[in-house]
Amino acid sequence: MSDTNDIELAAVRAGGHTPRGPEGEDLVAAPSLSSVRSYPDLDALDAAMEADPRVYRRHGNETLTMLEKVLATLETPAGGAAPIARATASGQAALLLLVSAAMMSGRRRVVLVRPAYGGTETLLLGPLGALGISTTLVDLPPPPSVCDIGSMVGAVMDRDVAVVVAEIVTNPLLGIVDVPAVATAAHQAGALCVVDSTLTTPFLFQPLAFGADAVMHSLTKHLGGHSDVLGGVAVASVDSEIGDWLDGHCRALGAVLGPFDAWLTLRGLRTAPLRVKRGTATAAALASALADHPAVAAIHHPGAGGGGDAALAARLLPRGGGPMLSVDLRGGRSAAGRLIRALAGIRLAPSLGDVSTTVSHPASTSHRHLGPQARQSLGISDGLLRFSIGIEEEEVVRAELTTALDAAG
Ligand SMILES: Cc1ncc(COP(=O)(O)O)c(C=O)c1O
Repeated sequence: MSDTNDIELAAVRAGGHTPRGPEGEDLVAAPSLSSVRSYPDLDALDAAMEADPRVYRRHGNETLTMLEKVLATLETPAGGAAPIARATASGQAALLLLVSAAMMSGRRRVVLVRPAYGGTETLLLGPLGALGISTTLVDLPPPPSVCDIGSMVGAVMDRDVAVVVAEIVTNPLLGIVDVPAVATAAHQAGALCVVDSTLTTPFLFQPLAFGADAVMHSLTKHLGGHSDVLGGVAVASVDSEIGDWLDGHCRALGAVLGPFDAWLTLRGLRTAPLRVKRGTATAAALASALADHPAVAAIHHPGAGGGGDAALAARLLPRGGGPMLSVDLRGGRSAAGRLIRALAGIRLAPSLGDVSTTVSHPASTSHRHLGPQARQSLGISDGLLRFSIGIEEEEVVRAELTTALDAAG
């Protein structure tokens, strides 16, 4: 597995029975909702307890297993074995599982490459900080500055760092992180590297093939794709300690995705390759089309950041940088407000990955907790809007954005 076509095929054909099923079988398997199974006698119960995790839904569920199998396939590197994938109640829960797994080493520090999703920082500095786990932040310089992220991470490593966490495409400035360099710096210090691949999806980037030890996604975003699911997935290779830990402890920790959410995610996955391809192409076209608009101070798009960004994009993201586009407006928060009010159909919603194009204002939502000074040093201005590009025709989105940019200026 891992050929792009195979990965896309696995997603498109997700959620169905095998093609060799008996005549008349449903094309799409119904969600298995029961939280427990019943047995005719104690012998049958004993046999099930030994061999069948579906006895109780937290341990096993047909719909969940179907989803986890597909998600594992999507993250299988070329020529490699399928990893362990465990679907969780949210993206946050997936990160919590992976950081907990990394703590098996007895080490107690996390290194987080920023900018990153605000909730990641909140989880690490809030509840995990209260448990005695410390986090060191490594800040990428605001674009278009370039940096040697491997050396920056290497400089803060010591024998207490259990794991380095990074997003391949950073949120919300859409810079590209050199994952192989981060993984090397982590490994040289005996630590693990976890990549949040939510913004890129497995159709554009497979972290395990680039040195990461584990991957997480928020299924709430592009993979679910319809803004009707909250979910996550944690993935690690089978022959790694982190994979063993996931396999052994994930269910006991209880952060399991419900079967109906798993079923909706399977439905979303079937169109994910098409949606991501279309949004990626439109986002790239809009990045060049809107760059010279007088209301725009800067456009952020993976690979368009200047410096070594294009070379990094060619090396890590040859199939495109994903369906995200951030626009920094000259007029700050008031210009952002005017633009949002002038949008005809694109809606303001603090998430991403919907079928249709949505916009978020990171300073008000995902990065609100940072405060103005930290936002400014990371390059997240009050005039920054982050668009998640949907499947609408490119010219429709372009016309709507151009009209709104005119109003913002
Ligand atoms: C990049 C990224 N990672 C993780 C998360 C957390 O996902 P969830 O909201 O499903 O917990 C989000 C949510 O916005 C995100 O954008």
